[in-house]
Amino acid sequence: MKPTYYVTTPIYYVNGAPHIGHAYTSIAADVLARFKRLDGFDVFFLTGTDEHGQKVEKAAAAAGKDPQQFVDDVAADFRDMADKMGISYDDFIRTTEPRHKASCAELWKRIAANGHIYLGHYEGWYAVRDEAFYDEGELTTRPDGSKVAPSGAPVEWVREPSYFFDLSKWQEPLLAFYEANPEFIAPSSRRNEVVSFVKGGLNDLSISRTTFNWGIPVPDAPGHVMYVWLDALTNYITAAGFPDEAADRWRFWPADVHLIGKDIVRFHAVYWPAFLMAAGVKVPKRVSSNGWWTVEGEKMSKSLGNVIEPRKLVETYGLDQVRYFFLREKPFGADGSMSHQALVMRANVELANDLGNLAQRSLSLIARNLGGVLPARGDATEDDTALLDAANALPGLLRDKIDRQVFHEGLEDVWKVIRAANGYIDRQAPWALRKTDPARMAVVLRVLVDTMRPVATVLQPFMPTSMAKMLDQLGVPADARQLADLATPLADGTQLPPPAGVFPRYVDETA
Ligand code: MSP
Repeated sequence: MKPTYYVTTPIYYVNGAPHIGHAYTSIAADVLARFKRLDGFDVFFLTGTDEHGQKVEKAAAAAGKDPQQFVDDVAADFRDMADKMGISYDDFIRTTEPRHKASCAELWKRIAANGHIYLGHYEGWYAVRDEAFYDEGELTTRPDGSKVAPSGAPVEWVREPSYFFDLSKWQEPLLAFYEANPEFIAPSSRRNEVVSFVKGGLNDLSISRTTFNWGIPVPDAPGHVMYVWLDALTNYITAAGFPDEAADRWRFWPADVHLIGKDIVRFHAVYWPAFLMAAGVKVPKRVSSNGWWTVEGEKMSKSLGNVIEPRKLVETYGLDQVRYFFLREKPFGADGSMSHQALVMRANVELANDLGNLAQRSLSLIARNLGGVLPARGDATEDDTALLDAANALPGLLRDKIDRQVFHEGLEDVWKVIRAANGYIDRQAPWALRKTDPARMAVVLRVLVDTMRPVATVLQPFMPTSMAKMLDQLGVPADARQLADLATPLADGTQLPPPAGVFPRYVDETA
């Protein structure tokens, strides 16, 4: 039986249109899901939309729509975005679905039955934009006297009856859990922040609201809807079949990794494991957080008018170019800037030149000089062996980097091999060998194909369409593109299709 692997994206608020911040986490999660499938895992990849709460209710009202109609429309748009980004999700969850309401009600009942919920009164600060409660001490006062959350979101004073979760009792269990599971929060800078936050002491958490209706009803408590984060986090177990622990899907729980943005670490690394422990449900194995993108160095915002629509980006530069850029340009956990110049540079230099030309040069020599027939391997020189060894080491290197979500390092490993192959072809000069030593020319060309095969195989999760084309041209059968298939050499004498460019160069028409 294949080992299971469960990876999730955050579920996106449907208060507005998708932007690159949403596309980014989804693409990273997609690379992870595709890589695990390639490596023989039984993968469950979940994405979806977060549709309840005050923020969404307000957005629906502002649009003059009924909330359900509004969320149906925006959720469809997010799904379209995921499809256009090539996101290979296995399930798309919407928190307004009946399966999710049932799952939340059951999780609430279990937490309550274990004695961790009590009725009280909440009085304090709330930021609708973050859907988060804040302590006075976390706020800053603006020159006009208004207060804002650390995220910059405006806060309002809220006073209402509320159910509470006894989060304060979970300080020790959480700290013990982080200690025993050092890989639970990544990167380590975020882990340190969480640990010191929890060490600082935890307040009980308000988990129901009574001043609006757009939420999941609290069982047996008329007038109360669940706090949107309790509702939202539960999506990860709903999709795995909860509360039906006999469901086939339940084999995927606990999740292997939740990929999230750095702004929502506290919810995932503190509240979520505490809720699950309180309910007696296993906790996820890892929460890995990404940094934020700015645009040409500026924070993306509606007021600046620089919000980038991911589907536009894809129309301009191509899907695989955008996917590659996202994962190559900055470390996953760090912040980075999306710029036109950087994207074009990577697309033209790294994709079109380094990789595209390598394939084009090697394959057209095979087409021209060998009738497109894949030559046999021959006696390997030191130069041949060094290159082949480096290429064959890629699956192992990538496996490790992808498991740690250091995607950019994995891509750097691949490009080291690509650059080495370009050096090799220049040194060996197979075009010159054609006259002086045709047998050696054939061996050199075979070494190049045997180098490009693992390169294209491990790059499939990043650039599925282009790498499918490249593997076609290398004569790799469609059913032999898993990592495990690399152990079986390509058949000598395979007829290769005529070579064709895989990465068009981006030409700036306005320049
Ligand atoms: N609905 C919650 C998540 C619930 S998960 C149980 C939410 N939604 S969101 O739509 O506001 O944000 C989703 C993700 O987008 C977050 O992980 C956030 O970090 C990410 N990003 C939003 N803007 C971003 C950038 N500019 N750059 C990178 N990611 C950013 O939070």
